[in-house]
Amino acid sequence: MTLIALCSANGAPGVTTAALALAWAWPLEGGRSSLVIDADPAGSGILPGYLQAAIPAGGGVLTLAARRGPLTGDDLLGEALALDPNGTRLLLAGISNPTQGSSLGGLWPRLVSAAHDLDPAGVDVFTDAGRLGHRYEPSPVLDGADVVVLVLRPTLTGVVAARAALAALRESRGLVRRTTALLVGDRAPYGADEVARALEVDDLLVLATDRGAASILSGGGVTGWRFARSSLMRSAAAAAGGIRSRLVSTRLPEGTRS
Ligand SMILES: Nc1ncnc2c1ncn2[C@@H]1O[C@H](COP(=O)(O)OP(=O)(O)O)[C@@H](O)[C@H]1O
Ligand SMILES: [Mg+2]
Repeated sequence: MTLIALCSANGAPGVTTAALALAWAWPLEGGRSSLVIDADPAGSGILPGYLQAAIPAGGGVLTLAARRGPLTGDDLLGEALALDPNGTRLLLAGISNPTQGSSLGGLWPRLVSAAHDLDPAGVDVFTDAGRLGHRYEPSPVLDGADVVVLVLRPTLTGVVAARAALAALRESRGLVRRTTALLVGDRAPYGADEVARALEVDDLLVLATDRGAASILSGGGVTGWRFARSSLMRSAAAAAGGIRSRLVSTRLPEGTRS
């Protein structure tokens, strides 16, 4: 099992869209599946968007937060909803109302250990942690992730905020390669090379801006061959490959996770 956490430093660069796109594009060979956990304490767009009325009120992370004691991988899977007909891409829904964020604090450490418990089930986990510095930031998820991906847009404010946030993440997470950045859009106005230099990230991940495919992920829609071949999903496949190679080079020996 791999735990990947996505977050942002400012604005709404596309964290939720990136989490969904990466989980969708993630290689699922050998019976593996991917699970998106919406851990955005501000209330993410996934609930009102992607699954619209399909989620029962109070389900997902809220139900898990209300349970006492440790959680297992099966508890996470039991609350997850299928994003595709085969049930190989799953979603654990988050909160829809930001006032519910305060009730989730005790959930995050239990959720991280339950996510590690998913190893035998072959499930890789993408967590949307929302914006860093939120009052109810899911810090245990950021601390416990194998890789943290900071999502940004190539604007001056985006790059400046991301540079400071990456420095703080590297400081708290140690090993530099366990923290990286994902740029949404290229040359708007800054190019990926310039941004990579400014952030001191050697293999910056890049997601194409593609309104059509992004709105299918956030609003629901037909995920046929056109979607699979969209610039967003092709770039998501390349970014997923980049994350996989980063994981291989940073894999912690068993038993050393904190
Ligand atoms: N790669 C992209 N290409 C085009 N539009 C995007 C992309 N990523 C996000 N968006 C759009 O930007 C808006 C914010 O995206 P979202 O993923 O909800 O951001 P965040 O989670 O950072 O707040 C949405 O309207 C979404 O459709
Ligand atoms: Mg979001």
